[in-house]
Order: sequence, then structure tokens, then C-alpha cells
Amino acid sequence: MARVAVLGTGLMGSAAAERLASKGFEVILWNRTRSKAEGLAGRIGARVAGSVEEALDRAEYSIAFLADDDALMGVAARVGRVDGLVFVNSSTVTPQASSRVSEYLEGRGACYVEAPVLGGPKAVREGRLIVIEAGRDHCKRLAHPVVSALAERVVDAGEDPARAQALKLAFNQLLIGSLAILSEALAMVESYGLGVDKLREVYEGTVFEALASKYLERLASEEWPTSFRLALASKDLDYARRAAWAAGLPAPVTSAAAELFKLAAHSGLANSDYSRIFQFLRGLKRGPGERGVEA
Ligand SMILES: NC(=O)c1ccc[n+]([C@@H]2O[C@H](COP(=O)([O-])OP(=O)(O)OC[C@H]3O[C@@H](n4cnc5c(N)ncnc54)[C@H](OP(=O)(O)O)[C@@H]3O)[C@@H](O)[C@H]2O)c1
Repeated sequence: MARVAVLGTGLMGSAAAERLASKGFEVILWNRTRSKAEGLAGRIGARVAGSVEEALDRAEYSIAFLADDDALMGVAARVGRVDGLVFVNSSTVTPQASSRVSEYLEGRGACYVEAPVLGGPKAVREGRLIVIEAGRDHCKRLAHPVVSALAERVVDAGEDPARAQALKLAFNQLLIGSLAILSEALAMVESYGLGVDKLREVYEGTVFEALASKYLERLASEEWPTSFRLALASKDLDYARRAAWAAGLPAPVTSAAAELFKLAAHSGLANSDYSRIFQFLRGLKRGPGERGVEA
């Protein structure tokens, strides 16, 4: 049985651990907060390691699902010599962090594959992720058993790991930004006595149909279980604007959306599903006496 260390057992990492165990991998879990990994370990027949080093000891593969740049760089800094280890990073990070971590880990003997993903925990459990992959060809070949256990489609981004993260951020930039605009549109039509059904009918047969049919119910529902934390959506928009800035592009639209999500996260929605952006925007509605000149 091939041994895989799963680094980070949040929503995505725990789903990946479950999927990999069901595909016959021997799974070792490591999580910053160890207690959060223990129930999962019992359920899927995995072992919990007390340190990153212990998790990687004699592992053929590792896959990281960590929150952000700081988390990935902090974990990478704890990696000792790992000759021959195939290190797959599926955390969404900046292209700049991706370059630094890949260089550092390759210097430690790892075969590094950048593999950010499209799709949430449910898609992970069902092996239906879209994986954007970059790295040296022979490393991508070596990573195939792990990547193919999780993915139904792989987009090859070439050799440079930073490019895989640029593409991943480009996807989330459009998705999360679109949800913000869709939320504003829904809040606006609601104020005119209209709702999800009428708005969906208007979008039907247009380029917006798929977005509306997938997300309008989710936005409008009073509660939605968290599958992607709003704080991480905020982080992704911030990373997308920083990736643009690093290339000399001001990205004003992405910056505005990033500020909006930051405000929402700080208003107490950080751990709620990112679709709660609708409730946040609707909550900004002013009363009749408070309207500005535009009203
Ligand atoms: N959820 C999705 O739908 C989705 C889809 C595609 C990509 N992603 C990306 O996948 C990654 C994981 O997402 P998720 O939804 O699983 O997030 P999550 O549930 O919030 O889990 C985050 C993980 O990162 C760990 N972590 C946070 N800060 C850390 C630090 N400073 N040092 C070490 N570990 C740290 C957490 O450990 P603790 O348990 O100790 O807090 C936890 O294991 C993120 O980069 C996210 O953007 C998510």
C-alpha cells in the first residue's frame, strides 16, 4: 500500500484523506490542531502524526490542503530531508509563495507538484475535482496515482508552479466576484418585490444561466452549511489582486470585491459559507429616511 501524508485536515484535507483511504492508500494525517484529526483518523482507519516530520517519515506522497501562504510556508519550513517524496500542494496560495515553497522543498529532495483544485469537499469525496497541475514532467508522472484518485480532469499548466496558482486565482476571482455582483442584483430586485424565480427566468438561455441556476438558491437560503469558508474566499480575492499588482496591474474590480469580502469576514461571517455574502450585502440596505442623493 502506498503511503500518503495528508497535511491539513480542514474541510478539503479531511475529504481528501477519506477519498485516498477509500482508494487503498495508507493515510497518515497531520493537522496543526491535532484533536481535529483524531475523529477522522478513527473513521477512515488512518494514523495521526504528532509532527510534520513524523507524517513525512517513509511517506511516498504528501498532499497539502492548508489555508494560505503563511500556513504552507510554515509547514514547509518544518520539512527536513525528504529525498524522493512527491509533495503535492493543493492549497490555494499566491504565485509568489508557490515559487518560494517549491524551490525550498525541491532543495530538500522533494519532487514538487503544484496542484490547486476547483471543486469543494463533496467533489473531493467523489473524485470529481478539476486539478490545475504544474511541475517537472517526471514529478507530475510520479504524482499521478494521488492526483487521479481525486480528479476527473487535469489542466496542465506546464512546469512553473506559480502558473498553476495564477490560473486557480483567475478562476476564483471570476467565481467569487460574480457571486458578489449576483448578490447585489438579487438584493436589488428583491427591493422591487421580485425574487429568485423571476431573476432565474431572466437569465435563462443566456450566458448567466449556469451561474444563476447553481448559485441563486444557495445565496437566498437562510442557512447553508459551510463548504468554503468566507474568510478563504476573501483570501483568494486578496491573493488575486496581489498577483495582479505583482505584475503591474491595478485590478480595481478585484480590489473592490476583495475589500467587500474582507468587511464581511470581519463582521462575523469568516467561518460561514462564502454564499453568506448575499446576507451581508442585503444587511447594508438603508431605511427610507437614510437614503442618499442617488435615491
Ligand atoms: N473548501 C473549498 O471548497 C475549497 C476548494 C478549493 C480550494 N480550497 C483551498 O484549499 C485549502 C484548504 O481549504 P479548506 O476549505 O479545507 O480550509 P479549512 O477547512 O479552513 O482548513 C484549513 C486548514 O489549514 C490549517 N491551517 C490554518 N492555518 C495554519 C497555520 N498557520 N499553520 C498550519 N496549518 C494551518 C488548518 O488547521 P487547524 O485545524 O489547526 O485550524 C486546517 O487544517 C485552502 O487554501 C482553500 O483556499 C478550498
